[in-house]
Amino acid sequence: MESSRRHFFVAAGVGCAAGLTALAPSDDKKDKDKPEEEVSALEDLMREHGVLNRVLLVYEEGLRRLHAKEEVGPEVFHKTAELVRKFVEEYHEKLEETFIFPEFEKHRKHVDLVQVLRQQHEAGRRVTDLVLRLSAADAFRKEGNRKQLAAACSAFIRMYRPHEAREDTVLFPALHKILPTKRLEELGEQFEKEEDRLFGEEGFEKIVDQVAALEKQLGIYDLATFTPKIPSR
Ligand SMILES: [Fe+2]
Ligand SMILES: [Fe+2]
Repeated sequence: MESSRRHFFVAAGVGCAAGLTALAPSDDKKDKDKPEEEVSALEDLMREHGVLNRVLLVYEEGLRRLHAKEEVGPEVFHKTAELVRKFVEEYHEKLEETFIFPEFEKHRKHVDLVQVLRQQHEAGRRVTDLVLRLSAADAFRKEGNRKQLAAACSAFIRMYRPHEAREDTVLFPALHKILPTKRLEELGEQFEKEEDRLFGEEGFEKIVDQVAALEKQLGIYDLATFTPKIPSR
């Protein structure tokens, strides 16, 4: 087990796969000589969580503006919810439900956790239905709807932070213990095919660009805006 775990980190060429995916050149994936194919399934899922995190930040800034009665249009919520639907729910979560969760159920490992994760995917989809409906231009004009929308986005953020953190720290690392390296390699290839089918070439990069556009619209794209302004001692 230890050697496969070590191999994961070595093959990824990094100490922290999740932290460095944003730095990985996009054409790395296509380089056939690289030995990291066998880990790409988990890397893929973890960088998709990075997109989800950025989506949550967009919702948070939208909420902050709503609460502060600052300018924020319904399209901020609507476009974000559309992105959640097509990338998080209909792609990322489908991969987990089709390829990852059944492995744990088959091996009788983390069965209770997987059950909650599945329930949360369903709950998330219901919340997104609500966000899409309440962020339609007509609906958004009514204050009562904006309050409901804010509550829905808050519930979404509250659920998905621990959801993805549990997958990253408990479920995904455990996959190495129940699946042979060869199967992980196959999964990586299947994920890549599915990504190409749904989003075309450079699909992930295009999705990241769409999140970045929303961040720019809200003035939270510049990473330095998140650095606390504490005078140095
Ligand atoms: Fe999930
Ligand atoms: Fe996930």
